[in-house]
Amino acid sequence: MAQHDDGVAASDGLALPVSGNTAAGSAIATTHEREVSPGTAVVTADRLVNPGFPPHRARLTDTDPKKDARAARQVSILFYLSIVGSIFAVAAYIAFPIVPGDMASVRMNTLMLGLGITLGLMGIGIGAVHWAKALMSDVELVEERHGTRGTDATRARAVEIFSLGNKESGIGRRSLIRNSLIGALVLTPIPAVVLFRDLAPAANPATLLKHTLWEKGTRLTRDPSGTPIKASDVTVGSAFHVIPENLAGAEEFLEEKAKAAVLLMRLRPEDLNELPERSSWSYDGIVAYSKICTHVGCPVALYEQQTHHLLCPCHQSQFDVANHAEVIFGPAKRALPQLPIAVDTEGYLIAQSDFTEPVGPSFWERERN
Ligand code: FES
Repeated sequence: MAQHDDGVAASDGLALPVSGNTAAGSAIATTHEREVSPGTAVVTADRLVNPGFPPHRARLTDTDPKKDARAARQVSILFYLSIVGSIFAVAAYIAFPIVPGDMASVRMNTLMLGLGITLGLMGIGIGAVHWAKALMSDVELVEERHGTRGTDATRARAVEIFSLGNKESGIGRRSLIRNSLIGALVLTPIPAVVLFRDLAPAANPATLLKHTLWEKGTRLTRDPSGTPIKASDVTVGSAFHVIPENLAGAEEFLEEKAKAAVLLMRLRPEDLNELPERSSWSYDGIVAYSKICTHVGCPVALYEQQTHHLLCPCHQSQFDVANHAEVIFGPAKRALPQLPIAVDTEGYLIAQSDFTEPVGPSFWERERN
């Protein structure tokens, strides 16, 4: 045992910090040497005794060929169940479609899909565990610790061990298990492929995002009450969350609302820096812009009336309303689309037309147009 100057006692490769002065440090002792006072660091000289392996107990499948065969059947049945589950998931997804607006169909679709995928994954999982516990070799081995980079001989031995593992697991010999496992593994990802494929809209996204419920003469109404907005209701500095008046009867209510949502703001006309071709798109300082962020589509809902900035809370893109909602900060690459507005004979704000460009994330537009 050695005592270092830095107050660390070391013994046979074991080191621990020692509190107090050198005298305290020198008080380190083994439990066999003498009694020590409380608070003194003690290094035990006892070495860990290797307890060895408990007596090996042969499994039923090791001693009884019938049990071995039965376990093999059980494993392959589990893998086949997994195949059935994966096929069921795909079939259920088609047989129980989600009907827009019908929550019962959503629940049924989710339930059936979940059952199929659960069966698919559990079949493989339980089958693999059962295979390992009941059929694979259960010889216990001692593995010495060694450096992470083995010698060439060790690496060659590793290859040998893999071959041995292959032999002992029986994957080459037990063709029933092997084939059913391959089938299960191949089919398990299929529900995910079907699901992810179906996430994409069937029609061209650029076309979908280009047309909203806004059309010539559609009144701008408050979200969510649907009450029309008069130009005189919009005071300088105020902002309104707006939906089209014909949204209530829309077939795809949520989708249409997500596309048509608009923010309405009134600035002092002298603060507005409008593009010449859009000079007729506003009304006495009142402007309307799509609420859907052109980055990845979050609602741009935070309006700072002093600076006339709109902030998207998702990734902090900022749009300058005074300058035709151009991007002044953040990852968005395109200004918010502007909705041309006017006032009808009764003083209510109306749209002059639909948006003139696709709303929402701009990559649709770049990719498709
Ligand atoms: S979605 Fe608006 S900044 Fe990302």
